[in-house]
Amino acid sequence: MPAVEITNLCKTFKDFFGRRRVTALDGLSLAVQSGEVYGLLGPNGSGKTTTFKIALGLIRPDSGQVTIQGHKPGSLAARKQTGYLAEESTLLPFLSARESLRLQGALAGLSRAQSKRRTDELLEKVGLNQAADRRVQGFSKGMQRRLGIAGVLIGDPQVLILDEPTSGLDPLGAVEMKQLIAELRQQGKSVLISSHLLGELENVCDRVAFLNQGKLINEGTLEDLLREKETHELRLSPADPEAIRALEALARQRGLTVISSKAPMRSLEAFYLSVLGKDKPKP
Ligand SMILES: Nc1ncnc2c1ncn2[C@@H]1O[C@H](COP(=O)(O)OP(=O)(O)OP(=O)(O)O)[C@@H](O)[C@H]1O
Ligand SMILES: [Mg+2]
Repeated sequence: MPAVEITNLCKTFKDFFGRRRVTALDGLSLAVQSGEVYGLLGPNGSGKTTTFKIALGLIRPDSGQVTIQGHKPGSLAARKQTGYLAEESTLLPFLSARESLRLQGALAGLSRAQSKRRTDELLEKVGLNQAADRRVQGFSKGMQRRLGIAGVLIGDPQVLILDEPTSGLDPLGAVEMKQLIAELRQQGKSVLISSHLLGELENVCDRVAFLNQGKLINEGTLEDLLREKETHELRLSPADPEAIRALEALARQRGLTVISSKAPMRSLEAFYLSVLGKDKPKP
């Protein structure tokens, strides 16, 4: 049974007078398998948030259906198994980070002791230990995002629906979020994530889908979609110029085209992390 199954979903928003205004979803079908990280990519207004809101039972589709672990959106069974990170912060501004998490723990049905333990664990995990007793209203956007994700995880839900989880995070925060998602995958959770920043979902998702104007236009594993099967890249160390020239000559002799042969560049992200001394995995 898929963790999230979306079948032929259609949604049109109407204006105040009931006139049809915007087609947000136009026959969308997709399935997130159990234990899979699935990325929904698409430009602004393509229907990602609308899909999520329908999956949570917050709005109703015109037609089509969604199930979460086989349950109807919004049902008690579905709600118990789902953690949702909304696009905009839904945190109460006058609570501290710690109070906010304790409250969410209580709402997720944890005992006081469990909620306290999970709160301490998660504050550490999302790097908010230092700010635990500060009020949320003074938090930066990235800090709110970190607290948001901690709140989503507090009840240990099986299915996670994360709307733009890296928005507002600095590059280090974004990397940490990706590590967190990788950890969730290892724990066997099912994750549905949206983003309009393509790089964000690379290396994190098992599969991605491209949404445009409420329609799915492409779907597949990153391997299927991105691997260039007609070319080959070879990296050598050390960069011995003579050996490289000889290899290039051999390739030409064999009738191959040498498309590129140069020292590889690090990504700006990798460079940024090395400047901060964060590029080595934790011991
Ligand atoms: N409550 C609403 N009333 C009217 N139109 C809406 C409403 N919610 C969404 N829409 C419209 O539906 C379309 C899809 O919006 P949606 O928020 O799902 O896009 P999105 O893919 O999440 O975009 P973004 O990347 O900007 O978050 C847009 O044209 C939007 O204006
Ligand atoms: Mg959105």
